[in-house]
Amino acid sequence: MKPLLQKVALVTGAGHPKGIGRAIALKLAEQGATVVVTDLAQASEDMSGAVSQLKGQGVEAMAVAVDVTQKTQIESCVQQVLNRFGQIDILVNNAGVGVGSSDFTELSDQDWELSFKVNVKGVADFSQAVIPVMQAQGGGSIINISSLLGLGAVEAIPACYTATKFAVIGLTKQLAVNYAKQNIRCNAVCPGSIVTQMHSTTLELIAEEHGISLEEAQALEDANIPMGYSAEPSVIGDAVAYLASPAARYMTGVSLPVAGGMSPGI
Ligand SMILES: NC(=O)c1ccc[n+]([C@@H]2O[C@H](COP(=O)([O-])OP(=O)(O)OC[C@H]3O[C@@H](n4cnc5c(N)ncnc54)[C@H](O)[C@@H]3O)[C@@H](O)[C@H]2O)c1
Repeated sequence: MKPLLQKVALVTGAGHPKGIGRAIALKLAEQGATVVVTDLAQASEDMSGAVSQLKGQGVEAMAVAVDVTQKTQIESCVQQVLNRFGQIDILVNNAGVGVGSSDFTELSDQDWELSFKVNVKGVADFSQAVIPVMQAQGGGSIINISSLLGLGAVEAIPACYTATKFAVIGLTKQLAVNYAKQNIRCNAVCPGSIVTQMHSTTLELIAEEHGISLEEAQALEDANIPMGYSAEPSVIGDAVAYLASPAARYMTGVSLPVAGGMSPGI
């Protein structure tokens, strides 16, 4: 039997067809879950595509436009999901931004504000809106997408990204300890180098920092990965599906690297 049958999962930032969020949504559906995809309103066409793809897998699906920096949109989304499906069992806080310069002295207030609003406060606000639902249901699973950069720092990455991804892990641990007795598990997944739009931006930063081409930057990145390659987003989908499943029922508060053995830096 599929392990997530009769579960309702909500994934943030799941619009982009080649993003990690979409891969997570598809994997949760493969395991039997009903899936709610959310993303910024400008991604509504992509979200419709996601819903068709999910329904094609034989599950119920719905799309809701939500900017995770807007608390009222989060609250309205949770209400819409409850009206339609009556429950939320799995929340995947995947939406994230990577903005700013790798030169710390050039980071602007806007870079810091956007990074914190999306990467940290967005995760906190969505969790705050969903936890009472999970409490009423007798449990649930929250999975936050941090980064290998939430475990250690490497060169050529904006400090506002690294700092916010560390914060996601702190938030994950606090929620894990606060709600463990209510059967609400909270874990973080820490992707390494995953081939997406955001990954291309990181490669551009590395290329700029070292004065090399994008191909050379990719080769430099891959040389730091013991398994020797950057992976497809589905590897993160698999890790999330595992953490959401009954197989991980005794796991909470973990920060799971999915990075081909890459070191998290210092
Ligand atoms: N790609 C990697 O190598 C990598 C590595 C480590 C961690 N991550 C993390 O994985 C997650 C997904 O990243 P990705 O690589 O798929 O990037 P991506 O840019 O393809 O996807 C990010 C998604 O978040 C959405 N988003 C941005 N701001 C939002 C907001 N305010 N409200 C709602 N949605 C918003 C975007 O529209 C997009 O669909 C992010 O949290 C990222 O930090 C990625």
